[in-house]
Amino acid sequence: MSFPTEFHWGVATSAYQVEGATAEGGRGRTDWDEFIDRPGTINRGDTAEIAADHYHRYAEDFDLLTELGVDTYRLSISWTRILPDGTGAVNQEGLQFYSTLIDELLARGITPFITLAHMELPLPLAENGGWLNRATADAFIEYATVVHEAFKDRVHHWTTLNEVSLTTWAGYGMTVFPPALDDKRLVLPAIHNQMIAHSHAVAKLRAAQPDGTFGIVGSYWPIWTLEEGADHQAAADKIDLLYNRSCVDVLVTGAYPAELLAWHEEIGGEDFIQEGDLVHAAGSMDFFGLNYYNPMYVAADPAGRGGPGMPTGIGIRQTEPDDVPRSAFGWPIVPEGFREVLNTIHDRYGIPVWITENGGAFDDYTAPGGAINDEDRISYLDTHLTAIEGAIEDGVTVLGYFAWSLIDNFEWAQGYSKRFGLVYVDFATQQRTPKASFGWYRSKVAAARTVQGELTAVV
Ligand code: BGC
Repeated sequence: MSFPTEFHWGVATSAYQVEGATAEGGRGRTDWDEFIDRPGTINRGDTAEIAADHYHRYAEDFDLLTELGVDTYRLSISWTRILPDGTGAVNQEGLQFYSTLIDELLARGITPFITLAHMELPLPLAENGGWLNRATADAFIEYATVVHEAFKDRVHHWTTLNEVSLTTWAGYGMTVFPPALDDKRLVLPAIHNQMIAHSHAVAKLRAAQPDGTFGIVGSYWPIWTLEEGADHQAAADKIDLLYNRSCVDVLVTGAYPAELLAWHEEIGGEDFIQEGDLVHAAGSMDFFGLNYYNPMYVAADPAGRGGPGMPTGIGIRQTEPDDVPRSAFGWPIVPEGFREVLNTIHDRYGIPVWITENGGAFDDYTAPGGAINDEDRISYLDTHLTAIEGAIEDGVTVLGYFAWSLIDNFEWAQGYSKRFGLVYVDFATQQRTPKASFGWYRSKVAAARTVQGELTAVV
C-alpha cells in the first residue's frame, strides 16, 4: 500500500444527521427544523427529531470507533446547541455535551476533527436573510470563537463550513435546501458571506492557536462532458467555475476569478464585495477538506434545462452516462474521477487535502441470520481508496480519509431512505449492526497500521 506513514484513518458523521434530540439540552431551532416542517420537502415526511439518537447513544457509537480501529473521527457541532439564538447567550449544556464527546474520543485514543457548521443555520439568522446578510458572517465568527475557546486545549483539527457550494446552489439557486430560493443572482453574494465567515474566523482562531490546523470542507467535482465540441467543453468549464472555483479559489488567492464576477454581472447580480472583506481570505486554508462522491456530467443546452443538481436557465443541462454502475441514489460510481479531482486540486492550489467524506448509499438489508452483506459498498470504498493511492503516487498530499458514514443517518431531503453507514441502524429500535463493510474497513485500517505503525490522538 502506498499510504504514507502519517496517513489518518477515520469515519465521519454530522450533528443534524445523527444526534436527534432536537428539542433537548437547550438547543435552538434551525433552518432545517423549519424546512422539514414544510409539507413535501422531505421524503415521506421524515424528520430529524430522533435521527440515530446519537445524542443519547454516543458512548455505544464511540465503542464502534474503537472496534473499527480508526484514529480520527470527523464530527460537527450544532451551532444552536451552543448559541440557541445563533448569537448572544451561550448554552452551557450544549458546550458540556460536546466537551463530553471530545473527552470520550480522546479517552479512546481518537483524534476529534471538528466541523463547526454542517449545513444548518440557526433559525433567527435564517429568518434575517441567512447567508445573504453579512451579520450572519459576524454571528458565525462569534460562534466559532466560543467553541474554539472552549475546546482548543483538546482539539487541533478545525473546519469551518461544510459544502458551501452545494448548499448555496441548492438553497439560493434551486429551492432544494433551505431557504428554498430560486435566484441565481443571490448565489455569489451568499457564498461571499460564507467566505468572509470562514476567513475572518480562521484568522482569529489561528491567532489563538498557532499549532492548530484549519480548513473548509467542500465538494469539488470533476466536471466532464460526454459530447464532442467546444460549446460542451465551455459548459463544463462554466460549471467548474460556478461550482468548484467559486468557493475555493478565493481562499487561496484572495480574489474571485474574473470570469466568475463577469458572470454575476451578466445575470444582473448586484455588487457585493466591500473593502476589507477579503483581507484574510488568501491562505486561509491549511488544507482543503474534500467530499467526493461522483463526477458531474454536463452538456451545452441553449434551452438551459439544468438537471437534478443544476439550475435551469444557464445554458447547460446535466447528462447521464449509461454505461457506469450507480449507487442507490443513482449517482455514477467513477473512482477515476476521484484521482483526477485530487490532481486538479493539487495542481490548482498546491495545498494538502483531507478526504472529509467518501462513501455510497446502497440498498442494504438484513439477510436471514442477521448479516448485512453490503458488497457494493465494499467495492465502492475499495476502488475509491485505490484511487487515492493513485493520486498519492501522482504527488498529491492526502493527509487522511473519513468514510461517510459511521452509522446510517438522516440523509437530508431523502430522510431515512438512503443509507451510507458502515453500521446499520434499525431506526425503530435504534439497534446498531455492523455491516460487512465495517469488517472490511477494519481489516483495511489494520493492514495499513501494520505498515504505518500506531498513530496516537493529537491533543
Ligand atoms: C454531505 C452529507 C451527506 C452526503 C451524502 C454530503 O453532501 O456533507 O451531509 O449526507 O453528502 O449526500
